[in-house]
Amino acid sequence: MAKIIYVDHEGTERTVEASNGESVMEAAIKNSIPGIDAECGGACACATCHVYVDEAFMDKVGMPEDMEQSMLDFAENVKETSRLSCQISVSDDLDGLKVSTPESQH
Ligand code: FES
Repeated sequence: MAKIIYVDHEGTERTVEASNGESVMEAAIKNSIPGIDAECGGACACATCHVYVDEAFMDKVGMPEDMEQSMLDFAENVKETSRLSCQISVSDDLDGLKVSTPESQH
């Protein structure tokens, strides 16, 4: 289990308990977090689950794999800390992870 904190484009924080093995996107959808639409259902094919990972967690979350990076190349407002939340798997290590959603996703 890990607490994941979602921050919307206006700075509002919402904290959810996510189970190990589910993705940061799945935990968001289950809890009706705004700004994460996940149109492709987690197939790494839409980029509507784009988030910015808090810098403090970048090492633990790691870098995107090739397929994810290619999707990010088509996403809007991509930054160094951009990840697709469907590709981040929850684990105890990620307890307290903060992710923000881009302004274009609301
Ligand atoms: Fe479509 Fe993540 S849900 S890329």
